[in-house]
Amino acid sequence: MADIEGTHETKEFYLDVPAKNRAFFLKGSGALDWGLQNRLARIFSPASGKTVMLAIDHGYFQGPTTGLERVDVNIVPLAPYADALMLTRGILRSTIPSSCRNAIVLRASGGPSILKELSNEQIALDIEDAVRLNACAVAVQVFVGGEFETQSIHNLTRLVDAGNRYGVAVLGVTAVGKTLTRDAKYLRLACRICAELGAHVVKTYFCPEGFETVAASCPVPLVMAGGKKLPELDALKMASNAVEQGASGVDMGRNIFQSDAPTAMIQAVGKVVHEGLKPEHAYDFYQTLKNEKKVETLAGR
Ligand code: R5P
Repeated sequence: MADIEGTHETKEFYLDVPAKNRAFFLKGSGALDWGLQNRLARIFSPASGKTVMLAIDHGYFQGPTTGLERVDVNIVPLAPYADALMLTRGILRSTIPSSCRNAIVLRASGGPSILKELSNEQIALDIEDAVRLNACAVAVQVFVGGEFETQSIHNLTRLVDAGNRYGVAVLGVTAVGKTLTRDAKYLRLACRICAELGAHVVKTYFCPEGFETVAASCPVPLVMAGGKKLPELDALKMASNAVEQGASGVDMGRNIFQSDAPTAMIQAVGKVVHEGLKPEHAYDFYQTLKNEKKVETLAGR
């Protein structure tokens, strides 16, 4: 029998305090189920409404690209500075400590390597394995205008059905490949298609002209992909512009792990995204951390 001795008889029901109805903090996500919202709240900081997602999934079609040759050596030390890690299940299981606190965004499409037609992807992950791995989201590439456009959109919609069933978010990634353009007109089209077909979050590239219209016409949170490696100050300016123009954060890879000082760079990106630090100040912060590291290395610490 349960121990009921000592149970208090006086109770307080706060009859004069109305129950709170809290709106969920992410754009377009108010009607999602609790589990989905909770997973999104692990990817996006409820305090800033933004995310620094570290993308390291490039190996799924590129193999060991520069900076990702040894994820255990180069990437694991960066994880504490990221809100979320975007990666394949192979790297997650083999290399990432299960004690990590990051939200996990699992690459869920694949097939062709850089030697073949990249848009010919299929779903490459069962939603049950995503749940088994405690993933907050699964990511699927969408090739609007690409040779296998319809197939890639079908991959997205199948994953959205599965994700809704299990409460796992779906990140639609707009691919540009070699031939597709990156202007606002194209990005508006691609992002909106992902969101209309059910993606809970959309990832896209920054464009210098009209990015704010891409963000405004996408009804769910938009995160900015980093793209090819830029000088650090330029990458920080791009992240800052994207967030100022409506992005809910970044999903950056090469501009972090190919930086001269990846640990300093990811922290500088965090300052821009979460604290709204101006890119020039974030760059000073990056330089300071980088120089401190140099001194530590020279001192053999
Ligand atoms: C590419 O298809 C992968 O999904 C990457 O996650 C994506 O390109 C972001 O990485 P990066 O910032 O290096 O472009």
